[in-house]
Amino acid sequence: MNRAKHIAIIMDGNGRWAELKGQKRVKGHEVGAKVVRAITEFCAADNDIERLTLYAFSTENWKRPRLEVEYLMKLLQKYLDSELETYLKNNIRFEPIGDLRAFSTSLQKTIKDVKEKTAHCDGLVQSLALNYGAHDEILRAINRIKKCEDDITQAMLSNALDCKHDVDLLIRTGGDHRLSNFLLWQAAYAELFFTDTLWPDFTTTELERIIKDFTKIERKFGGLK
Ligand code: FPP
Repeated sequence: MNRAKHIAIIMDGNGRWAELKGQKRVKGHEVGAKVVRAITEFCAADNDIERLTLYAFSTENWKRPRLEVEYLMKLLQKYLDSELETYLKNNIRFEPIGDLRAFSTSLQKTIKDVKEKTAHCDGLVQSLALNYGAHDEILRAINRIKKCEDDITQAMLSNALDCKHDVDLLIRTGGDHRLSNFLLWQAAYAELFFTDTLWPDFTTTELERIIKDFTKIERKFGGLK
């Protein structure tokens, strides 16, 4: 039976969820942050799941209206301030991925603090993808290793990426069927699951069902059985 050791999620649909309720888009992000906590705690309690990587802010999200970007930054700050306790209580290690240099000094400090304070935790690894784009990640990795005199190998590139772990199960909420520049290298053999559920409505019950379906898939990785 397959084990979903590394689950990655594109958390889409916050804005539409709020608009459907006649509320401002940012309300969807606020409720979405609560779902992040619930899903993270669920994964931490599951012995099979080792990593949960969540697409929280992409390199393209800066194109959104200034007020929405500012709100997302504040929400992230608030989330990390309040979640340190949750991480420690559930033995969760926080390992952000993405180019963090784009964030304010205070947000960078919070991200670094939470990372350091949870570095000893050996349960679930929760990675928030922050100012993350797979193209940017791959380019930064190549630039890191390009001075090497030998030919670059797959292992070298993989080790130079922010996220060095292949994804087993990639889920996208919100009804669209695309990867939106998320973990393109690591998802080469991931099983892809798309759901129409908008992220604020996504539940641990739906995640459990998806994981159950995933365990039944015969994964061949290009081979024959
Ligand atoms: C996509 O919804 C979601 C995002 C761009 C950001 C994800 C953020 C959260 C889940 C909340 C904050 C998370 C943390 C960890 C604090 P969308 O706005 O693109 O929705 P739409 O497709 O309906 O417009």
